[in-house]
Amino acid sequence: MSSAGRSRIMVTGVGGAPGFDLAVSLLKRGIDVIGLDADPLAPGLLIPGIIPRVTTSADSPGYPGELLGLCGELRPVALFSTVEHELPALIRMRHDLAGLGVRTWLPDVGGARACLDKAAFCAALVRDGLPVPRTWLPHEIAQVPDGVPLVVKPRYGWGSKGVYFCTERRQAAVLCELAPDPVIQERVPGREFTADCLAGRDGRASLILRWRLLVKGGLSVVSATFGDEEAAGLVRRVLAAIGAAGPCCVQGIIRDDGLRPRVPARRSGPRPPRSAGHRGTVGRAGRQAPGQACPPRHDRGRRRPGL
Ligand SMILES: Nc1ncnc2c1ncn2[C@@H]1O[C@H](COP(=O)(O)OP(=O)(O)O)[C@@H](O)[C@H]1O
Ligand SMILES: [Mg+2]
Repeated sequence: MSSAGRSRIMVTGVGGAPGFDLAVSLLKRGIDVIGLDADPLAPGLLIPGIIPRVTTSADSPGYPGELLGLCGELRPVALFSTVEHELPALIRMRHDLAGLGVRTWLPDVGGARACLDKAAFCAALVRDGLPVPRTWLPHEIAQVPDGVPLVVKPRYGWGSKGVYFCTERRQAAVLCELAPDPVIQERVPGREFTADCLAGRDGRASLILRWRLLVKGGLSVVSATFGDEEAAGLVRRVLAAIGAAGPCCVQGIIRDDGLRPRVPARRSGPRPPRSAGHRGTVGRAGRQAPGQACPPRHDRGRRRPGL
């Protein structure tokens, strides 16, 4: 809580669009925002009114001490992470954060692993009988059928970096030499969407679907909301399968050929809801974390297609 008695929330990753948008949304709602980023040039550090802080990256040994020090100094009532690679460190710190009065809304270790590890994500979906592109590790390459369009990408990758497409198993074998720690995946033809989600602790979720119309650096910078009960139902089952908690996103593909099932192609990460079609969600996330006064109302909020 700030000295003026206003809620104060810490948002990580304000250099990326999800963190930037979340910080702006919270500020607009009269909430004080501490914006963190490991990059001193992160644009979100310059948002008017934000309390900016540059941190070391989450994988550095000094990160936990530094973050706890900032929380002790600035006393946020909650922390929202928008960087999936921070999740393991934050999960390890959740009790220390709680001790400082900082609420978090994080998945458990298994849920975080599904966010970070594409092989683990696929395994979790297969376990729950959910549709996911067939996925192989390099040592399983002999099982990859020939004549099937393929994707080779880093198992722990993000932002669409190091993603290669090919059509033959022998090409995939070469591409596995290029991508760090790769997975090989069947390439699914279709239209990509993102589901911005707020996953409650009770297994329920608010979500909004957006077509990914223009993608830059792995993020959809132009999108249009749409309604599709079947896709929404599938996304909810994905959230349950991976144990998602709090704000996150799921990416998927609706196949060109219209064949069922629809295919989620990507894991969920801690990307806060940012879609214009779901105005209630960021506000609810902001209110939820500080007070825990009431469970999220997933039946509330304005959802409009075509935005
Ligand atoms: N199995 C697939 N079928 C079709 N396109 C894919 C597939 N896997 C990845 N892609 C394409 O590559 C992009 C990045 O892949 P993704 O799995 O989302 O990795 P990242 O975690 O780096 O964002 C996707 O947005 C999509 O355009
Ligand atoms: Mg992606």
